[in-house]
Amino acid sequence: MPQPMLAKYRQRVELELSRRLAERSGIDPSLHQAMHYSLMNGGKRLRPTLVYLACELLGGKLEQADSAACALECVHSYSLVHDDLPAMDNDELRRGQPTCHIQFDEATAILAGDALLTWAFELLSEPVESLSATIQLQTIHTLSRCSGDLGMIDGQAFDLGSEGKTLSLEQLKSMHAAKTGELIRASLRLGALVSGCATDSDLEALDHYAQSIGLAFQIQDDILDIESTTEQLGKPQGSDAERGKATYPALIGLAQSKSWLNELHQEAVKALEPFGSRNSSLIELADFVIARNH
Ligand code: IPE
Ligand code: IPE
Ligand code: MG
Ligand code: MG
Ligand code: MG
Repeated sequence: MPQPMLAKYRQRVELELSRRLAERSGIDPSLHQAMHYSLMNGGKRLRPTLVYLACELLGGKLEQADSAACALECVHSYSLVHDDLPAMDNDELRRGQPTCHIQFDEATAILAGDALLTWAFELLSEPVESLSATIQLQTIHTLSRCSGDLGMIDGQAFDLGSEGKTLSLEQLKSMHAAKTGELIRASLRLGALVSGCATDSDLEALDHYAQSIGLAFQIQDDILDIESTTEQLGKPQGSDAERGKATYPALIGLAQSKSWLNELHQEAVKALEPFGSRNSSLIELADFVIARNH
């Protein structure tokens, strides 16, 4: 995906997030600082971008997708703050800066994560004229289900429980579908829902696309952990190997991981066929997912 196109959505969600954060400046100062630090620190904003692209794909306006885009980045950023904690991956660098618990302290990082997660659902449930209450409820249900114990948290639990173990390919796939794939699926679904025009078959096609790019995204994350540098990644290179994480390259080797990436890219493109020529932005995003270097 050309950088200017990514930049457009990134800048939009960053403006929305900082405006909305500023409205909460009356809260405990260190909590506010830690929330700000964890959100406004230069992530790729892939999930908000997916929200916007899915909304536009179905003819919605970007304004309709702002709250959902912010909500996705809040859940994602919280998941990273908690993922980096000593009790989990125990990492000290994130997005090129000290992780939240290093910059502040563990208690503040836990609370900032809690606050970001909860805020996401406040954002989705705020009364707005442009969306029906039914659609808002669907967005809340989708995000809670995809990010909770039936989705991302189940994947995180499995990830921690499998450190030092060899998993089967099926186990690894389902762990990654949960820990990374479900939030990516939620991003596309929420974008489609807030367009106000999503049909069941649109949602189904977007689910297929999400399954492919979600898996591809995590395979590339595992490859980058081996092949990239700490500087480029903004997070510690080699962290997976150090913690004995189950990863694709560890299980099937680098070459096979890379050829699988290409297969998943093709599957993603195929899943978008029902949308005809309107699908080009999501195809470009799939290109970015497999070619990204950070
Ligand atoms: C990192 O996600 C965690 C994974 C799910 C692999 P990103 O690579 O999207 O992280 P940021 O938001 O750009 O920092
Ligand atoms: C994190 O996966 C996924 C979630 C936070 C849900 P990783 O542990 O692989 O992410 P990084 O490599 O620390 O970004
Ligand atoms: Mg982890
Ligand atoms: Mg981690
Ligand atoms: Mg990783």
